Amino acid sequence: MKTEFLVIDDLAAQAHDIARAADVIRRGGLVVFPTETVYGLGADATSEAAAKAIYAAKGRPSDNPLIIHVATPADAERYAITNDTYYKLAAQFMPGPLTVILPKKDTVPLAVTGGLDTVAIRCPAHPVAQALIKAAGVGIAAPSANRSGRPSPTLAAHAREDLDGRVDMILDGGAAEVGLESTIVALDGDVGTLLRPGAVTYDALCCVCREVRVAEAVADKLAEDARPLSPGMKYRHYAPRASLTLLDGEKEDVTRFLVQAASDPHVGILCYDEEIPLFGKGARLFPIGAAEDLGAQAHRFFAVLREVDAHPEITALYAHLPPKDGLGLALFNRSIRAAAHTIKKV
Ligand code: TXA
Ligand code: MG
Repeated sequence: MKTEFLVIDDLAAQAHDIARAADVIRRGGLVVFPTETVYGLGADATSEAAAKAIYAAKGRPSDNPLIIHVATPADAERYAITNDTYYKLAAQFMPGPLTVILPKKDTVPLAVTGGLDTVAIRCPAHPVAQALIKAAGVGIAAPSANRSGRPSPTLAAHAREDLDGRVDMILDGGAAEVGLESTIVALDGDVGTLLRPGAVTYDALCCVCREVRVAEAVADKLAEDARPLSPGMKYRHYAPRASLTLLDGEKEDVTRFLVQAASDPHVGILCYDEEIPLFGKGARLFPIGAAEDLGAQAHRFFAVLREVDAHPEITALYAHLPPKDGLGLALFNRSIRAAAHTIKKV
C-alpha cells in the first residue's frame, strides 16, 4: 500500500486533513499519529479486523493487547467499567501520559485486548491526537508505531522507517515531548498495580490510590516461567543491534570506565552531556542529556538507540544505569530491557 505522509503544523487550518485521517480510521484503515509520549499506530478500537491489521503491520504477536485512546476521560465509559479511583486519576493526570487498566465492556473485541477481560484506556494530551480521536468519533486502539522489537518512535520519521508501505497515513506532529511510553496502572478498586513506569511517577500515583504495588517486571528480571501481569513485559524490547551493558557504580567510576572503553573502535557510549570533553577524539559518543536532567534523557532515549543502529561498526554499547526514583524508574525500566538485563558493577 502507498503511505500518505502529512505534516500537521497548523491544526486550525488543517481540519480537512484531520477529517480525512479520521475517515481512514472509520473505514478500518491504519493511521500513525503523534502523542506526547511516543507515536501511535491507530485503528478503530471497536473493529476486530482493524486490530488484526495493526498486529500485521507491526509484526506483533496478537496476544499483546492494545491501548484504547479516548478524547475525554468520560469516553472510557463506552469501553470499560470505571470506578471512583479512575476518575480521581483522570482529574490529576488526564489528558496526559497515563494508561489505566479496567474491566472491559463487550464493545471491545477480544482481538483488541489479546483475549483478556480487561482493557487499557488512555487519554492523550497531544493536540493532533485529540483532534483525530474527536473527528473519528470512536476510540482509537494504538500500540507504539514501531515494528515489533524496534525502539518506540519519537519522531514521525522513525515511524516512517518502520511502517512506510504498511499503513495508510502517517501524521507528523513533531517530536514526542516525553519520549517514553505512558505509565500503565491496573486498578482493583482503589488499589493500583504499576505495570509500566512512565512520566506519571510511582509517587504521583500514590497520592491518588490507597495503595500502589509494583509489578515485578518493572525493575527486575522475570523468571523464565513467570506469567507477567502485562503481556508486553515478556517480549524483548527496544534492543539495539549492538549489545548494551549498563554500568552500576559511583558516577566518577562509571565515567572512568566509559572513557577507557571508548578507545575500542567497536564501542559506542551513551554519555551525559557534561562528560563529552573527557573523551578522546575518535570516541563514538551518543550524548543523552545532562546527568541531572532525566526529562531530557527520557526525551532522547529511543532516538539515540535508533542513531546507534545506524552505525554497524558499533557492536558494544555502554551506558550509565539510571536511578530508580521519580522519572528515573521509567528510564531504568526501558534501559534494562534494551540491555537484556546486562548490568556490570564498576
Ligand atoms: O504511551 C503509550 O502508551 C503509547 C502511545 C501510542 O499511547 N502506546 C503504547 O502501546 O506504548 P504499546 O502497545 O506499545 O504498549 C502497551 C502496553 C503493552 O505492554 C501491553 O501488554 C499493555 O500495554 N497492556 C495493554 N492492555 C493491557 C491489559 N488489558 N492488561 C495488561 N496490560 C495491558
Ligand atoms: Mg510498544
